Amino acid sequence: MLSSIDAITETLAVQHYVADRPLATVLFLSQALGKPLFLEGEPGVGKTELAVVLARALDTVFIRLQCYEGLDASMALYEWNYPRQILEIKLQEVCGDRDRLAKTIFGEEFLIKRPILQAIQHPGPRPAVLLIDELDRADEEFEAFLLEVLADYQVTIPEIGTLRAHVKPLVILTSNRTRDVHDALKRRCLYHWIDYPVFEKEYAIVRNRLPAIEGELAAEVCRFMERVRTEDFLKRPGIAETLDWAAALLALNRHTLDAEAVEATLGCIFKNQQDILLFRDAVWGDHGQRADYLKQVKEALC
Ligand SMILES: Nc1ncnc2c1ncn2[C@@H]1O[C@H](COP(=O)(O)OP(=O)(O)OP(=O)(O)O)[C@@H](O)[C@H]1O
Ligand SMILES: [Mg+2]
Repeated sequence: MLSSIDAITETLAVQHYVADRPLATVLFLSQALGKPLFLEGEPGVGKTELAVVLARALDTVFIRLQCYEGLDASMALYEWNYPRQILEIKLQEVCGDRDRLAKTIFGEEFLIKRPILQAIQHPGPRPAVLLIDELDRADEEFEAFLLEVLADYQVTIPEIGTLRAHVKPLVILTSNRTRDVHDALKRRCLYHWIDYPVFEKEYAIVRNRLPAIEGELAAEVCRFMERVRTEDFLKRPGIAETLDWAAALLALNRHTLDAEAVEATLGCIFKNQQDILLFRDAVWGDHGQRADYLKQVKEALC
């Protein structure tokens, strides 16, 4: 299914994910070379969605590890199920089978398998897709731990031994670059930056995700967003906002952009008051300025 770059583009398109050539290429190489894919980019540009869609496209298991401050191996890899172990000990005390207890108490049945172990133990035949999402939120110690795991896809549990992946998972790591991820980790991955989409890509996404939208409105929305992103907002809108906005305009039965519709739906484009005020003051302005802005958006489509 992932036998060529074109096959990847087509397979993802079937799942309504629009991958441009550079992204499809790096994804192809990631699985061909057996290397994790490290994706960075602004919020809402499709990093997480790529992993979700890839698993669906391959009809395989999707395993997600959401990173956060304080994340450690017990939440990422495994943890002993202490309450169950204690229960078992009490039970065996009653039954008096101490030999059996010693053998079983650190067996897999008392292990809580967290995402990385689940991915390593996935039996196949297709590799699991392991998403390690928003790595920049985790601490640097966690990166060091990941380095070890990603180096050889094996995990050593002192009480059990070393567990090796029979089928290496397809690993996608994402980051919003709130801090730099260590070079040593990046070195083990293929890197790709997902930028805000060019007009053609965003238009394709909107048409794909919202089949009910008319071409004209979709094009206006995408041109408008393209322009908005040239301004210095606290948080520029991503594709997620474009889709929300387009869906909102559809719900309001709009066929084309007008000042009133934009004003009524600003909360779909900007997610904080400071940006809304900045937009109103610096970009949107008075009646004449708004008309000009919309005119320029529409002219850019000709
Ligand atoms: N290339 C694409 N094709 C189709 N839909 C897309 C694409 N990129 C983004 N989307 C849509 O945009 C939404 C946001 O994408 P996603 O959540 O993957 O962004 P993200 O980069 O992970 O953002 P964050 O950094 O905030 O987690 C998705 O739900 C998806 O519907
Ligand atoms: Mg995400």
